[in-house]
Amino acid sequence: MVIMDNAPPKSHGLGRKSANYGDREFALYLRRSFAKSMGYSQDMLDRPVVGIVDTGSGFNNCHRTTPELLEAVKRGVLAAGGLPLPFPTVSLCEPSLFPTSMHYRNLAALDTEAMLSAQPMDAAVLVGGCDKTVPAQLMAAASADIPCVQLVTGPMLATRFQGERLAACTDCRRYWAAYRAGRVTAERIAEIEGRLATTAGTCGVMGTASTMACIAEALGFMPAGHASIPAVHAERLRAAEEAGALAMRMIEKPILPSTLITEHSVENALRVLLALGGSTNALIHLTAIAGRRGVRVDLDRLNALSDATPVLVDLKPTGEGYMEDFHAAGGMPALLWELRDALHKGVLDVTGRTLAERLTEPGFVDRQYIKAHGEPVSQVGGLVALFGSLAPRGAILKRSAATEALFEKEARVVVFDGLEDLATRIDDPDLTVTAEDALVLKNAGPLTPAGMPEAGYLPIPSKLARAGVKDMLRISDCRMSGTAFGTIVLHVAPEAAAGGPLGLVETGDRIRLSVRERRIELLVDEAMLQARRAAWRKPPVPARGWDRIVADQVLQADEGCDLAVLRPAIA
Ligand code: FES
Repeated sequence: MVIMDNAPPKSHGLGRKSANYGDREFALYLRRSFAKSMGYSQDMLDRPVVGIVDTGSGFNNCHRTTPELLEAVKRGVLAAGGLPLPFPTVSLCEPSLFPTSMHYRNLAALDTEAMLSAQPMDAAVLVGGCDKTVPAQLMAAASADIPCVQLVTGPMLATRFQGERLAACTDCRRYWAAYRAGRVTAERIAEIEGRLATTAGTCGVMGTASTMACIAEALGFMPAGHASIPAVHAERLRAAEEAGALAMRMIEKPILPSTLITEHSVENALRVLLALGGSTNALIHLTAIAGRRGVRVDLDRLNALSDATPVLVDLKPTGEGYMEDFHAAGGMPALLWELRDALHKGVLDVTGRTLAERLTEPGFVDRQYIKAHGEPVSQVGGLVALFGSLAPRGAILKRSAATEALFEKEARVVVFDGLEDLATRIDDPDLTVTAEDALVLKNAGPLTPAGMPEAGYLPIPSKLARAGVKDMLRISDCRMSGTAFGTIVLHVAPEAAAGGPLGLVETGDRIRLSVRERRIELLVDEAMLQARRAAWRKPPVPARGWDRIVADQVLQADEGCDLAVLRPAIA
C-alpha cells in the first residue's frame, strides 16, 4: 500500500476516525476527495480541525446571532492555523417545543455527543444559549471527552418602556399574573407582548439560560467573564473569536472535559448556583452533567452548602436587576472573588490556569447587583432540598423566591391529576380552595408524556388571585421556570408516574412543609396509603419513537433526568 503524500497525519484533523470500509487508506482517500469538493486547498485540509456546533434555527430566537458568532469563531480558528468546520445539531428553544424542551434535552445531548465522537475533529466550540442547549452540550462534551469550549449566545438587553425596564421572562410572568388577576387589561397585555424580548439573546434575567452560562464558566468551560456578555455587544463577538483560538490551543495542550468536571469543580458550581439565587432547573442539569463523569450531586450536601453560601447576586426573579447589570457590575469574576474562601482553587479552566491563578480582586464592583460576602442579599443559599414521606428521594424549594410566611405550614391539599385536569379546573369558580390550602399537581414528571414541564408554578386560582392572593404553597413532580417565583416545591422524587407517594395524594389530605427541618410529609396513615397503592396503576407507555425511549430510560430528578443508558458504567 502506498501512503499518498497529501494524506493528513492520521492522528489529527481529517485524518482521524476514518469511515469503516475495511480499507482505512481508501476511506481517507475518499474523504479527501469529497472534502476537496468544498473548495479547500490541501494546506487547509492538512490543518487541525475545530468542529463548531451550530444550533442556529429558525425556531430558536435565542440563537438569532449564531451566524455571526460562527464567523467570529472561524476567524479565531483560522488565525491560529486550524480548519473550522461548523455542523448542525438539534436546537432547542424553550417556548417552541411540545411538550417541553426538557423532553428533548437528552436527544440534543445524544445527537451532539454522537457528532463530536463520530466526525474527524480535534477540538470543538459548542455554541448554545437557550435553557436546554448548554446542559445538553456539556453532557455531550463530558461523554465525548474531546477538548471543548462553551460559547453562549449571551443574554438579551432589557428594554426601557414607559418608566420601567422589561425583559423576558420574569416580566412576562409578572404581567400575565396581573392580567389573570384583572389588574391589567387585554389591550395592555397585547402591547406588553411586543416589549418583553426586543433584542437577540437569551432571557435577560437569572433564569435557566443565564444560570447555566455561569455554571459553564464555573466548571471552566469558558474564560473568566464570558458568561454574561450581552448577546448584542461587540465583546460577545470577541469572545467567539477567542473561543476559536482557545480550541486551537487546547489541541496543543489538551484540557479534556474529564479534567474540568471533577468533584471539586462541581461543588464550586453548586456554590455559584446558590450564590446566584439561580434557577432550580440548573440543579437537574448540573446533576446530569456531573453524572456523565461519575460525579454525584448529593442533595444532603446541597443543603449543607446552601446553609453556608450566601445569595450575593440581586437579579430578577429574586431581586431587581437584569443580566446586563450583572455583567456591568463585574460578572462571574467578581462573584468568584466574593466566594473565594469557600471555593476549591485547584480546578482548571479551558485556558489551563487554576482558579487560584484566575482569581483577581476586581477593580470595580457595582454593589447594587453583586453584594459583598459580608453584606449578602440573604445569609443562606437560594435552594434547599426537602425529604420526607411525600418525597423519599427529595424535592427542591427555591427559598430565595418563596414567601417566608409559608415555610412552616400544615395544609389541606387540592390535587390535580395532570396538566389537563389543572387547565380544566384551576379557574372553576366552584373549585373548593382557600389561600390556606396547598395545590398539588401530579403526573407531570420526567417519565410522563408531559415531559416534566415548567408547570410547577401552578397559577393561583383566579378567584383567589382576584381577591389579592399572590402566593400559595404548590407541590409537583415537574419543574419551574428559572424566571418564576413563589413557594413552590418541585422535582418530587420518585414522581407520581414512577409509583412515588405523590401519586397517592388525594384532595382533602394534609401535608406538612418545614423548611427549617427540610421536611415535606404526607400526613396520611400507612393503612390508607397501602389501600391506595394497591389500587394504583402504572400509566401506559408510549408505543414508539423518542417518547418510548424516554419512558424506558429516563432517570428521576435526583439523578438529573438523564437517560440511564447514557450514564457511564460505574464499576
Ligand atoms: Fe431561550 Fe429563555 S426562551 S433563554
